[in-house]
Amino acid sequence: MKTVAILSQKGGVGKTTLATCLAVASEADGKKTAIFDLDPQATASFWLDVRNKETPAVISIQSIRLSHMIKAAKDAETDLVIIDGAAVARDIAYEAAKAADYVLIPTKTAVFDTMSMLNTIEAVRQVGKPFSVIFTFVPPLGYEIDDAKETIKHLNADICPVTIGNRKAFFRAQSEGKAVQEFDPAGKAAEEINNLYMYMCIKLYDSKEK
Ligand SMILES: Nc1ncnc2c1ncn2[C@@H]1O[C@H](COP(=O)(O)OP(=O)(O)OP(=O)(O)O)[C@@H](O)[C@H]1O
Ligand SMILES: [Mg+2]
Repeated sequence: MKTVAILSQKGGVGKTTLATCLAVASEADGKKTAIFDLDPQATASFWLDVRNKETPAVISIQSIRLSHMIKAAKDAETDLVIIDGAAVARDIAYEAAKAADYVLIPTKTAVFDTMSMLNTIEAVRQVGKPFSVIFTFVPPLGYEIDDAKETIKHLNADICPVTIGNRKAFFRAQSEGKAVQEFDPAGKAAEEINNLYMYMCIKLYDSKEK
């Protein structure tokens, strides 16, 4: 079993959206997948409530129970756990990073967003886990990504080559309890998620085994 944590202390950067879409991609790839929802606001759990399917499993837990729940997931022959982090809480980010094999750190490209992301990188680095920064809500045109990369270049962080655009399909899908690839399979948002899923698999399993 592998564990991915999606963490950012900045709110509203797309953690839950990525967690749900990646979990659906993983299920479609034949992997038994569970989301551990660490957010007291329980957004991922609400998403499952409006979803007309039993998968992926979404379990709302407190970070103090993470190691116990990860063991339980292993015992239940889960293939992939995706931890959906909570904004602000540094202790949650720290605990989730400790439990993870790999961490995705989503950030918007605006300068204050990238600056606040530095705290998350620091928490993840403290536990020595591999991570990638992924740019979300990327506007269709402009130099924002270059500026954001410039802000973090001294950190030597892995920057995910897949970026996630600012697209209505994400929130439209979410409000129906769907992932974008279910909502609009031929759309750009679905393509981004499929590419991100492949990138995550390379990071998690190596380039050959998926
Ligand atoms: N790439 C995107 N383009 C447009 N809207 C998006 C995108 N990603 C997410 N959204 C929408 O933005 C809102 C915030 O996204 P989401 O809940 O995934 O962020 P979050 O980081 O989990 O927030 P929180 O910190 O509150 O947990 C949601 O309404 C979601 O549907
Ligand atoms: Mg969230």
